[in-house]
Amino acid sequence: MNTTNNTVLVTGGSAGIGFELAALFAEKGNQVIITGRDEHRLKTAVARLKNTTGILSDVTDPAQVDELVTRINKDFPGLNIVVNNAGKAYYYKLGDEIDVAEKAAEEMQTNYLAPIRLTEKLLPLLKRQKEAAIVNVSSIVAFAPGRRLATYAASKAALHAYTRTLRLTLEKTAPNVRVFELMPPLVNTEFSKVIGGENGIPPRQVAEDLLKALAENNYEIHVGNTAYVYQLSLSSPAEALKLMNAAE
Ligand SMILES: NC(=O)c1ccc[n+]([C@@H]2O[C@H](COP(=O)([O-])OP(=O)(O)OC[C@H]3O[C@@H](n4cnc5c(N)ncnc54)[C@H](OP(=O)(O)O)[C@@H]3O)[C@@H](O)[C@H]2O)c1
Repeated sequence: MNTTNNTVLVTGGSAGIGFELAALFAEKGNQVIITGRDEHRLKTAVARLKNTTGILSDVTDPAQVDELVTRINKDFPGLNIVVNNAGKAYYYKLGDEIDVAEKAAEEMQTNYLAPIRLTEKLLPLLKRQKEAAIVNVSSIVAFAPGRRLATYAASKAALHAYTRTLRLTLEKTAPNVRVFELMPPLVNTEFSKVIGGENGIPPRQVAEDLLKALAENNYEIHVGNTAYVYQLSLSSPAEALKLMNAAE
């Protein structure tokens, strides 16, 4: 699909991967809208970006999502790309924690249920556009979980399954809306600090891979060494699991 002259919403666009996605979309001549929960962080990000509007909105709060969707329909009726990027992860070992179910619920709310809610609410608008896309940001751990990211990996595996079936469905019912899945490996952001994120790839590389994949209509985007782990997970799921847990 075309990667210029779009109107793009990036959830969680005030930092990390979302910020770099917003920056690259803006540089390529797209109108960009970013969201986040922290007003100062959002304003600071908007000041560093061109062609970008910031809207304070928590993806896990249905009322705030409704407000966001109303605002987009009113002020950005040409919206044609939605990037479900905002994410949440807890890093811990199963058995060490007494509130694992609460952590899992939070991860599911942010990583799985929020993209579904926003997608459902924006689909009528997307269907009206000549060409549109939904990009769900999952992770390498959707294929092979790391033992300290057990419930996070499960939430991304759920998002992966949903994304595949959404693509299958829309191919028949709304072929103008393409469904992409962006699967980064370890990326150097605030989010990944606790898991050695400084050894990860720069977020800019993730953004460049997304823009290239959009242009080529490559729907499953295996960024960096996600490509290798994905292939390994097909040929030997046990080896892929071992590789993802080699550090401990
Ligand atoms: N970094 C990695 O190694 C890595 C690897 C694979 C996949 N991913 C995925 O990539 C995505 C982005 O990760 P990142 O590393 O860029 O994270 P990050 O550096 O922590 O940035 C997260 C962004 O999302 C916003 N955000 C968080 N929760 C939100 C909520 N409930 N509603 C709205 N905005 C929210 C944050 O702003 P506020 O805090 O102000 O809301 C911030 O702008 C996530 O889905 C993550 O799972 C990351």
